[in-house]
Amino acid sequence: MYLNYLSLHNFRNYLQLDLAFEDRITLFYGPNASGKTSLLEAIFFLATTRSPRTRNERLLIRQEAQGEAGELPFLRLVAEVQQAREKVQLEALIQARADEKTNSSANSAQKTLLIKGKTTRALDFVGQLRVVLFSPTDIMLIDGPPNERRRYLDLTLSQIDSRYLRNLARYQELLKQRNSLLRAWREQRRPQRAVDNELAFWDKELATTASNVLNERLRAITDLNRLVAPLFCTIMETNQELKITYQPSFAFDASVTSANLAQEMLQKLQKLRSEELKRGLTLIGPHRDDLFFTLEGQNLGFYGSRGQQRSATLALKLGEATLMQQRTGEKPVLLLDDLLSELDNLRREHILQLLQQQKQQIFLTATDLSVFTGAFLQDIQRKRVEMGEIYPG
Ligand SMILES: Nc1ncnc2c1ncn2[C@@H]1O[C@H](COP(=O)(O)OP(=O)(O)OP(=O)(O)O)[C@@H](O)[C@H]1O
Ligand SMILES: [Mg+2]
Repeated sequence: MYLNYLSLHNFRNYLQLDLAFEDRITLFYGPNASGKTSLLEAIFFLATTRSPRTRNERLLIRQEAQGEAGELPFLRLVAEVQQAREKVQLEALIQARADEKTNSSANSAQKTLLIKGKTTRALDFVGQLRVVLFSPTDIMLIDGPPNERRRYLDLTLSQIDSRYLRNLARYQELLKQRNSLLRAWREQRRPQRAVDNELAFWDKELATTASNVLNERLRAITDLNRLVAPLFCTIMETNQELKITYQPSFAFDASVTSANLAQEMLQKLQKLRSEELKRGLTLIGPHRDDLFFTLEGQNLGFYGSRGQQRSATLALKLGEATLMQQRTGEKPVLLLDDLLSELDNLRREHILQLLQQQKQQIFLTATDLSVFTGAFLQDIQRKRVEMGEIYPG
């Protein structure tokens, strides 16, 4: 699939922008703070209904848009997506709330999503436009906290399959309810046998939903390993094996099949019961899982160089794009922000060659053209970005 057309109104530093695209490689280049990342952010938002940079959607509305005569400021994003079978118009509106408090980090904006002009739930909106974003902060996937890695997996799988998103939402809801029960019981000092019956229901629901989430994540990791390792070798020009390992919060051995994963979790929950009651928390499940990257068995987060970590995240993202294509039958749109920074010339050349072979729509950003090879520049569309305006490259 690819993006035919994109329009921004009051988004970040853009007042109004209307752009048409071809289905190949487009490079946005321009100085720092000109609006390159914001463009990719807008496309990512239309794919996932989220900003990769902030949870507070109020921040996305152009600051100068504030205080226009009596009206609350709002932003509008519109895209036309060419899917395999049809063209779809996607639209997102974000309006500031009347009761907004200044300096609040809470989300003080209201979001409306539309497909072909009809208001839609986020659940149905996600998946219309599929993207894979690579950004310099992705290095956190390798050396950062576990929640980043869980969020990454969840986002990827949600774009591929709406059932995953539904399951995950159900799991999070169950988890919230179960945790508040555990806390309430802890405060009431209710003995374990008094709550056993009530918990049995929640445990069963939780374990079933958790096992669905877990099975999909494990399947994705297996597929990603197959796809990502060779990409890493190409980029780094090495034979070293990059491996991703899923680390569940409760141990189960290889003989446990996907069908009896729920049973396995139930047994573990029973063993943990008194501990969970004492702490008022659900101690195992997909919300506590993690994954890690190794190179020849060594943890890349601890031992990897910046270049290795960066190349590994890029290999991960390119592998993810192929995974999406294999699962959905359509190639996603690649968004590559500041792709070539921190890499040496050889790595750059390998990456640019890989991109030219991808045969899918790619948007990339850079501060200047000197990092690109002549052959690459000839093959692409260029657009110059300056202070929230776009000029022909
Ligand atoms: N809500 C907003 N209203 C107006 N301007 C904003 C808003 N949010 C961010 N900006 C500004 O938009 C500009 C563009 O930011 P962006 O991150 O897109 O730049 P960039 O071209 O990617 O720069 P860099 O090369 O440094 O990564 C910045 O000056 C930023 O401060
Ligand atoms: Mg940027």
